[in-house]
Amino acid sequence: MMGNVTHTASAVAHSNIALAKYWGKQDVERNVPDVPSLSLTLAALSTHTVVTFDPDAAEDRLILDGAVVDRTSATASKITGLLDRVRLQANIRWRAGVDTRNDFPTASGLASSASGFAALALAALGAAGLPVSSPRVSALARSASVSAARSVFGGFVSLEAGALEAQPIPAAPAAAALRMVIAITQTGTKMVSSTQGMLLTQRTSPLYSGWKQAAPSIYSELRAALQAGDFERLGDAMEHSALCMHASMLAARPGLIYPLPGTLAAIECVRELRRAGTFAYFTMDAGPHVKVLTTEGTAATVRQALEDVPGVLRAVISSAGGPARLVQAGPAA
Ligand code: PMV
Repeated sequence: MMGNVTHTASAVAHSNIALAKYWGKQDVERNVPDVPSLSLTLAALSTHTVVTFDPDAAEDRLILDGAVVDRTSATASKITGLLDRVRLQANIRWRAGVDTRNDFPTASGLASSASGFAALALAALGAAGLPVSSPRVSALARSASVSAARSVFGGFVSLEAGALEAQPIPAAPAAAALRMVIAITQTGTKMVSSTQGMLLTQRTSPLYSGWKQAAPSIYSELRAALQAGDFERLGDAMEHSALCMHASMLAARPGLIYPLPGTLAAIECVRELRRAGTFAYFTMDAGPHVKVLTTEGTAATVRQALEDVPGVLRAVISSAGGPARLVQAGPAA
């Protein structure tokens, strides 16, 4: 069936933060985005996943950060759905063991699904002996999590509305000095998953149509600013993208309110830093953490200022991360 190929593969993928946000599905069944997004892959946050197809196993066995995943959970069905797609492509029926570890808090708005499903897609295709071209891995990752399609690539990455796979995009050389500082305001699992949240927004928010209309031009502006090395404009468009997305979430019914008091205090801190002349712009996702775009030279100052904010537990500096990659097979470290 699989000839002499190995049945185990191990992959590492980095998380990413969208500068131009994805929020909304054009095709729910196939999980295709309704708006274009643009992200930065992060070196500091990664997931390591081992997939082993086992002819003797009766069912898939999923371990996340050392704990068995509840088979009835949404996470388990997304993982099994991805494995089923790989089994179909490889024409195998074998169940799989999946052992995945994050080096950051899972499901807390730190985009663990991005690195998690990128690493899973790459490891699962590798373990099944299928080709692992980046577009193919990206399309498979997207079928489980749209943001994961972007984590297959390093650096700056785009995913167009309606697209099946992400692609790396050019940036001005000076963009190598950009850093993301992640201010963590809470540990633990968030209440509403991004899929539930965006479907609720699409169904009930009168501001969703405004968001959908605005997102492509924010994306184009941001992309052009990145290429031109106009980082003030990039930061300004990034904040606008996050705030437009959150406006649509707030107007859902019931409203989706992700920020905590510490989130708002961190945003105020960023604006204060900027007034004082420091290059710092914020964004936030479907969670309470604040991610701040700054430069290599000011990242330590920004981190310190954020850590002094009441409600911020700690802050992590990240530079751009590389693409997802296969690593030596074996148990997750
Ligand atoms: O693809 P998901 O389900 O991880 O959704 C990601 C949604 C946001 O993080 C809010 C925005 C984005 O583009 O990453």
